[in-house]
Amino acid sequence: MRIYQEADYTAMSRRAANLISAEVVRKPDCVLGLATGSTPVGTYKQLRVWNRRGDFSFKEVRSVNLDEYRGLAPTHDQSYRYFMQANFFDHIDIRPENTHVPDGLAADTDVECARYDELIRSLGYADLQLLGLGRNGHIGFNEPCGRFVKETHVVDLTQSTIDANARFFASAGDVPRQALTMGVGCIMAARRILLIASGEDKADAVYNAFCGPIDPHCPASILQLHNDVILVGDKAALSKLTANKEVSVCK
Ligand code: GLP
Repeated sequence: MRIYQEADYTAMSRRAANLISAEVVRKPDCVLGLATGSTPVGTYKQLRVWNRRGDFSFKEVRSVNLDEYRGLAPTHDQSYRYFMQANFFDHIDIRPENTHVPDGLAADTDVECARYDELIRSLGYADLQLLGLGRNGHIGFNEPCGRFVKETHVVDLTQSTIDANARFFASAGDVPRQALTMGVGCIMAARRILLIASGEDKADAVYNAFCGPIDPHCPASILQLHNDVILVGDKAALSKLTANKEVSVCK
């Protein structure tokens, strides 16, 4: 695992954008696994600037997003499809038909989950999977539970996640109770994983993910079994991890 400790959110975002753009330059038709949440907003912003400047193109890139709230239409301003359009896709030269987000309105979620897994398989899995990290150690919407779930599936969101995401909705009561999420199978099948984390409230989750036991009660801990993980965090998010003398940070 490679760890980059950056001074603050801006530097973290720039480093993450740098790693993603390097992948696009290396392989113009790469498959990017993409994430939502507030952490990647700065990364997307930086990529937009470089794309607009003509440094590289997303024209051949294919993307697969991690998750979507169940019951929200793509036009709902809190849906993850809407988030991706507003923060990224509408501002870059990616082809709309090459962007994929699970369908939160699917009448039959079993069919939708199977379709999504098949889609990712047919794309050859992600070359680079971007991940944020929930305060409870969740990745995508793989919530802490008794086992790692491999396939795309419907999850009941935990109270901690509902509370954390309530800031985006009028009230906690408006946060959907379920979501469709890529399982850890597709995440772990990505050739490279880039996890980004910012802020002191992620310090415990970062520590547990990389120094704790591999345990589905901290879903991100499965990443310890992946052979190409890059962790980019700001000082606050990495504070507990880097206090561990056995952890070394890239210069
Ligand atoms: C949501 C998303 C995750 C994201 C997490 C952390 O629950 N499903 O993919 O990593 O929130 O979000 P934030 O970056 O806003 O802290």
